Amino acid sequence: QIAYLNGDFIPIEKAQISPQDRGFLFGDGVYEVIPVYSKRLFTFEPHLKRLKNSLAATDIMNPLDDAGWRKLLQKLVDMHPWPDQFIYLQVTRGVQMQRDHLPADNLTPTLYAYTNELKPVSDDIQIHGIKAVTLDDLRWQHCDIKAITLLPNILMKMTAKQQGADDAILLDRGGFVTEGTSSNVFIVRDGQLQTPPQSTALLSGITRQVILELAEQHNMPFSETPLTLPDLQAADEIWLTSSTKYALPVTQLNGQPVGNGQPGQAWQKMQQHFENAKQ
Ligand code: PDD
Repeated sequence: QIAYLNGDFIPIEKAQISPQDRGFLFGDGVYEVIPVYSKRLFTFEPHLKRLKNSLAATDIMNPLDDAGWRKLLQKLVDMHPWPDQFIYLQVTRGVQMQRDHLPADNLTPTLYAYTNELKPVSDDIQIHGIKAVTLDDLRWQHCDIKAITLLPNILMKMTAKQQGADDAILLDRGGFVTEGTSSNVFIVRDGQLQTPPQSTALLSGITRQVILELAEQHNMPFSETPLTLPDLQAADEIWLTSSTKYALPVTQLNGQPVGNGQPGQAWQKMQQHFENAKQ
């Protein structure tokens, strides 16, 4: 497995960064996860746009131009045998010897990227779906930035596991659904697809956008609308969407069946549309 680090392609075991990197010491950095199907970067442009938004919002220098990003990532993909992959890339603010929350001027960002095999979702999940619990969203007010600082997401996922579930659906202080710990949330109710509107309380998921576009193309009614726990409880279907898992059907919420307790028809249909869109 080959990784890219600050200009070089190297065996992943050889990749080394300074412990003084602000990403390591402060979580001061941003990242992206980009899916690859049949060796082709999928939805590269929106991922790049979101990366640039995250960099601008954190005032971290963008180390490459658009063409440079594409070239680097495609090269990384082509160095690996798997047709389907997911690229992880992160840009941190750089290495600083003196501890200071305030970043020094003119730091050189650290750019790291590697790729993994993207494995299909297991048959068990396709057939039975996953279990979710609702939890209070513990995070800050800039979840639209794809920051590497994921401690709250990790703790909430651990809590979900401890409660016997696979993942959590997060509710903000007003009781509104924000997203999953690493995914966006959709529900299907009376044939309509619904997802919370974009805001600073959640990440603007690229898979979320793909699904909204597919819904539009295939005349499936949809709306971006605030959702609450009662909306989840009344839903016929709940999905969690992300670049690595596409859309997972949630068939149990807080110990109760969602709809008839099985992955729903709208999910199956959308799955088909997505398979076609990937080609
Ligand atoms: N996470 N919300 C959060 C908090 C996420 O971490 C992710 C993705 C999403 C879905 O976004 P997208 O459809 O663009 O992947 C929503 C990635 C996969 C991760 O952290 O590994």
